[in-house]
Amino acid sequence: MNAPVDPTRTAAWSELTTLRDSFSPDLRGWFAADPDRAERLSLPLADLHVDLSKNLVTDDVLAALLRLAEETGVAGRYQAMFSGVHLNTTEDRAVLHTALRRPAGSSPALVVDGQDVDADVQGVLDSLSAFAARVRSGDWRGVTGKKVTHVVNIGIGGSDLGPVMVYEALKPYADAGIQARFVSNIDPTDLAQKTSDLDPETTLFIVASKTFTTLETLTNARLARDWLWAGLTAAGAIDDTDDARTDAVSHHFVAVSTALDKVAAFGINPVNAFGFWDWVGGRYSVDSAIGLSLAIALGPDVFRDLLAGFHAVDEHVRTTPLEKNVPVLMGLLNVWYVNFFGAQSHAVLPYAQQLSRFPAYLQQLTMESNGKSVRWDGSPVTTDTGEVFWGEPGTNGQHAFYQLIHQGTRLIPADFIAFVNPAYPLTDGGQDVHALFLANFLAQTKALAFGKTAEEVEAEGTTGALVAARTFAGNRPTTSIFAPALTPQVLGQLIALYEHITFTQGTIWGINSFDQWGVELGKQLAMQIAPAIEGDAAAIEAQDASTKALLAYYAANRKQ
Ligand code: F6P
Repeated sequence: MNAPVDPTRTAAWSELTTLRDSFSPDLRGWFAADPDRAERLSLPLADLHVDLSKNLVTDDVLAALLRLAEETGVAGRYQAMFSGVHLNTTEDRAVLHTALRRPAGSSPALVVDGQDVDADVQGVLDSLSAFAARVRSGDWRGVTGKKVTHVVNIGIGGSDLGPVMVYEALKPYADAGIQARFVSNIDPTDLAQKTSDLDPETTLFIVASKTFTTLETLTNARLARDWLWAGLTAAGAIDDTDDARTDAVSHHFVAVSTALDKVAAFGINPVNAFGFWDWVGGRYSVDSAIGLSLAIALGPDVFRDLLAGFHAVDEHVRTTPLEKNVPVLMGLLNVWYVNFFGAQSHAVLPYAQQLSRFPAYLQQLTMESNGKSVRWDGSPVTTDTGEVFWGEPGTNGQHAFYQLIHQGTRLIPADFIAFVNPAYPLTDGGQDVHALFLANFLAQTKALAFGKTAEEVEAEGTTGALVAARTFAGNRPTTSIFAPALTPQVLGQLIALYEHITFTQGTIWGINSFDQWGVELGKQLAMQIAPAIEGDAAAIEAQDASTKALLAYYAANRKQ
């Protein structure tokens, strides 16, 4: 693996520093002086229309950012990723989530480390589709012969956030009378509430865990198994024998994992397990067998359409020159804001209730990928890295935190995502409600870009101190992502867009965006503290003073 290029030592970085020093954002002036700005800076990305024109960039800045991409070898890193180079250096793994969405019959076949990756991917996709079709048709039944009405995905992180986000986004496609639920938290409330109204006879659990070692997931899987046995026994559906219990598990539990041996050890029949590979990172895995709940609830065809959407963006990023390459440009803009404006966060604001979980999904994708202080060769990073991603669907956010984006002291670049056609076209007294919703999307990006001057405020009759309070500085950068409708393909395109934005930023900063060692320490300590919280004196004694005091508070207030 080549040593990372230090971005701060490139000629492009010096150029950007000089440009920033004399930079005076003026979206009003730039739009007035250049009637083509919106058209020039709006680019197609498969079915998406991406308007970058309300960003704080001039042609000079864009040119320098593109030179930064060249000097840091962005194109070469993409080529390396697509061809299966072990870019995940700390785990010595290829990074091949893009292989999960290559169409069947792609030529030449992708062979990595001696494995025909295409054949492996298509094999799992076929068996997953066949299984989903069986559950949907009622050919697969519970232990008492009833059709499945609910699938409960038990997983966390990448084994949860992708499936739940996509399910919420594409629920209008759920047409087989099967609902999906998602249990992730080890807080027992999660499993208790999500199963409280379910019938064990018609419930299918999917235990989704790449490693099949994750404490939360395995604990919840055991709780679910107990719930199943207890419910079936109480209903007189099974007797209290090991054979009956094993039989119940084989009808009501399937698994998705890269560790099929561990699946068998849990008691799930390996015939009912769907695999994937270590070259798929957890947060990049919704398009692997981890999407089984989606293939069941939404249908295998919808799942394949989602994959086709991902692939369209993969092809764009792989083949489009940098200056028209939307994920690369958006990644470069993020670097511009983080490293030259000190932006610490980035808002993602979907104007679609169906994308309510999209910001949470992106938090893992972006922050687990680029929240790093060392580069891929182990040396310290040379500049700030991953920003905080956050957001809520419009218009809810407008009535909560937009105040700070409009008039606060921090620069918060924001991506607005909207769809021309709604899933539910309702009218209110003749008014198309979705059109009204979209008017808000357009109004917000306009207000953020162009603001409102004191003169304009005064012209409305406002005087005194209120003038300053009602003035908007503008020049708050936004990107508008517009698409005809939230279809499976479009959703796949959106997810892949953010995957590649993340990779572009990681590459420029010299980061391995595919490991996540920062989550390990907490996991280790939780295992050490677990006996202490149960009262083990030696374990308590081994803690620091603050933890000891918190344990004492727990012991004093524990009811049972
Ligand atoms: O702890 C973080 C993490 O490793 C994520 O990267 C991953 O998506 C999640 O845990 C769940 O892991 P698994 O799928 O192996 O249960």
